Amino acid sequence: LKQLLFKDPTAPPLVFHWFPIIGSTITYGIDPYEFFFKNRRKYGDTFTFVLLGKKVTVCLGPKGSDFVLNGKLKDVSAEDVYGHLCTPVFGTDVVYDCPNSKLMEQKKFVKFGLTSEALRSYVELIGRETQEFANGVLQGKEGTVNITEAMAELTIYTASASLQGKEVRSRFDSTFAQLFHDLDAGFSPINFMLPWAPLPHNRKRDAAQQKMASVYLDIIKSRRESGKEKDSEDMIWNLMNCTYKNGTPVPDKEVSHMMIALLMAGQHSSSATSAWILLRLSTRPDIVEELLEEQKRVLGEDLPPLTNENLSLLLLNAKVVKETLRIHVPIHSIMRNVKSPMPMEGTPYTIPTSSWVLASPGASSRMEQYFPDPLKWEPHRWDDDKGDKDAEDDEKVDFGYGLVSKGANSSYIPFGAGRHRCIGEQFAYIQLGTIIATWVRNFKLSSVGEFPKTDYSSLFSRPLNPARVRLERREKVEKS
Ligand code: HEM
Repeated sequence: LKQLLFKDPTAPPLVFHWFPIIGSTITYGIDPYEFFFKNRRKYGDTFTFVLLGKKVTVCLGPKGSDFVLNGKLKDVSAEDVYGHLCTPVFGTDVVYDCPNSKLMEQKKFVKFGLTSEALRSYVELIGRETQEFANGVLQGKEGTVNITEAMAELTIYTASASLQGKEVRSRFDSTFAQLFHDLDAGFSPINFMLPWAPLPHNRKRDAAQQKMASVYLDIIKSRRESGKEKDSEDMIWNLMNCTYKNGTPVPDKEVSHMMIALLMAGQHSSSATSAWILLRLSTRPDIVEELLEEQKRVLGEDLPPLTNENLSLLLLNAKVVKETLRIHVPIHSIMRNVKSPMPMEGTPYTIPTSSWVLASPGASSRMEQYFPDPLKWEPHRWDDDKGDKDAEDDEKVDFGYGLVSKGANSSYIPFGAGRHRCIGEQFAYIQLGTIIATWVRNFKLSSVGEFPKTDYSSLFSRPLNPARVRLERREKVEKS
């Protein structure tokens, strides 16, 4: 009754719920997209729901994304929402445990460290790791694999071999895998919902964070003490030589915490995406053959090793990544705390400071008005892609880490926009591109049972288990 009687005309419509604290937590949590689209039909692009006692205003569509992701620093805060979750996992003084201006500098260090030499060496290392993995993934000539598990393993091997450096890669065969697992438990949804709860796995998380940070510190120390010059393109070498604007070299402790942040931030998004790619390809053997044909046509019948240069010529390969990220965006909700009342242009609404705001780029890229037949996976829909005709601005802005396209007012932004935009996009594209190209050289793919639904129970959506793909090794294993 209270919801119906005391309606503030400047407040967006509130999704009806029976229980005060629980609100719409359950329906939202089971399938966020179904929840968004159902309420969009009722209320339009802006509405509020209760998530464990917190009012969250959903701002759908490109304009909604722009409102949230390009919100001013004085109005919105990401650290208020994600800080309690991320800081115990990453460590102190990085990402959300420091002023935003410092995060912008840290992002700049990483972004500028992804030089063309670095990317060149990464493609080679990722190709090698993927080929080795492909050699061992089947006992015989054909078989079925749990693709979510396989991709989680392969993603960590490829990211550690390239971005994280050889010392970290060698530890993933032994100590690091368990530490990673314990640390990752810190990202459980329960940690997000009940940050104050004394959860038993938090003790393991904290011990793993300390141990992992000390391993990175040892690597840095031994590199410094050996007096060796930089001998690889990994991010540790890059960050060890970076200096903040105020003249302070990045302390080793912060280098180690940034390396943990990169490891954890990239793992789930990339591994869920590669699992979805292979699941989608398993339903479209025609595209798998087309991908192989593309490689033969563009690179030559003998399929030379993949390089950063020749990978960029494989257009269909990239469209497969792009189309998969359209339907299977790993982060379905991006939230911010509102720090000062935010009037929403073109609406009667002002979002109060008691709320969070939520953008969902994944909802925009599932809207019929932007992508006809939106749930159909079709990489060729990007064939005549001329950019986003609905994006009003392709304005470039400097958020402190180099020019990025402001472009939040777009129906396709799987890597986010604005000051918190992803810095891993380029890396993710070469990692995913190399994995697909190597995989189709090695295997024919086919599907097993029904196409898996999405598991939204963790912060990063991924295929619901069992998600399996049938592989048949090609007669001639092509070089990668
Ligand atoms: C932030 C998506 C891979 C590092 C983000 C955000 C999105 C995103 C949407 C913005 C979050 C927000 O605004 O709150 C993705 C997708 C990926 C991917 C779809 C792969 C398919 C990676 C990789 C790395 C990475 C491989 C590291 C190498 C980061 C970092 C941030 C971030 C550090 C935080 C930036 C900030 O808060 O300012 N990512 N990401 N991501 N991503 Fe990624």
